[in-house]
Amino acid sequence: MNNRLILVTGGTGYIGSHTTVELLNSGFDVVIIDNLSNSDKEILDRIEKITGKRPYFEQFDICDEEKLEKFFNIYKKVDAVIHFAAFKAVGESVEKPLMYYQNNLVGLMNLLNRMIQFNVSNLVFSSSATVYGQPDKLPVNEQAPFKPADSPYGNTKQIAEEIIRDVVKSNPEFFAISLRYFNPIGAHPSALIGELPRGVPNNLVPFITQTAAGVRDELKVFGDDYNTPDGSAIRDYINVVDLAKAHVVSILRMIEKNSKHNLEVFNLGTGKGSSVLEIVNTFENVTGQKLNYSIVNRREGDVESVYAEIRYANEELGWKAKEGLDKTLLSAWNWEKRIRNIKD
Ligand code: NAD
Ligand code: UFG
Repeated sequence: MNNRLILVTGGTGYIGSHTTVELLNSGFDVVIIDNLSNSDKEILDRIEKITGKRPYFEQFDICDEEKLEKFFNIYKKVDAVIHFAAFKAVGESVEKPLMYYQNNLVGLMNLLNRMIQFNVSNLVFSSSATVYGQPDKLPVNEQAPFKPADSPYGNTKQIAEEIIRDVVKSNPEFFAISLRYFNPIGAHPSALIGELPRGVPNNLVPFITQTAAGVRDELKVFGDDYNTPDGSAIRDYINVVDLAKAHVVSILRMIEKNSKHNLEVFNLGTGKGSSVLEIVNTFENVTGQKLNYSIVNRREGDVESVYAEIRYANEELGWKAKEGLDKTLLSAWNWEKRIRNIKD
């Protein structure tokens, strides 16, 4: 419709697939690059089922310089890039740091090199609230300093943001937006796409839905001795469709040349913190499922409390998270039921 072509790296993954749906629904054309290291080709059919449109798809590793160059030689009219492709498992990154630095940083540098070579000058980058560590002040705003990273994964996000900052500084024609996600959860209301963790999930909500589905025996709540009202840790859980929409807004901002600076950074959260036990209770209430859970020791590397100051994203980007926790947790449960074939 609007004839703009957006390259989405990692577009068959969890956040990438939801973003591709929102881009297609907004009239953009989308080409995905994904090596399917953490996703499935079938997602393309699902995206088509939801939107009635099929994104172009190229399966290869963005670390492969030659293939990426060939790609840009074929897709000459890419207007902007959203860069999701990365590894994201915090624990795995501690065991295999080089794998994380290689994939997350070499992939980014390769992409930046080719974008500059082919005059593609708009980039949206998937960053994370992990760059803040435990902030000194809550809610945390975009000016808060980076804290020493707790994991190689977290470090890749900090270094990536610094790489982008330096590249933008040396290329006045280049525009970038770093989006710092808080805790993305939930699934598309169609239940056709959602999060597909491989093996035992690290993240809270997939662990909860798998426990309710009987795939896991019980949820372990990591710590009830934090300095929070109920003792469990607090995070800012954001609906994945809301998150996806922020990418469309960011792309439009760059394409319509409304960026205030060559590099802009926005927190993507709801501004509201919820404790682990609140998430458990809300999940039980909205789904009617009883969750087996027990309290265990704190998980190493976890911070006590983090939630977003969202004023800048609201006022400057013109984006606000809309969906509440109830519907979001229900969407996560509907997705889990669908992939497990659980009938009501
Ligand atoms: P995901 O694993 O579901 O999606 C990432 C996709 O990238 C996968 O489809 C994978 O196959 C692909 N990929 C990975 N390395 C690649 C490579 N070298 N070449 C081509 N494709 C490659 O992850 P997600 O949850 O959708 O996360 C997307 C981005 O958002 C990541 O950069 C992640 O670090 C960031 N992020 C995620 C969260 C979260 O909680 N999910 C929070 C903050 C930031
Ligand atoms: N938790 C449990 N039990 C579990 C899993 C998690 O109690 O089985 C707790 C954690 O201790 C934490 C909260 O639930 O207090 C959320 O944990 P997640 O693992 O879901 O999310 P994190 O906040 O630890 O990390 C997530 C992403 C990171 C990203 C970060 C940004 O996994 O990639 O958000 O804030 F960097």
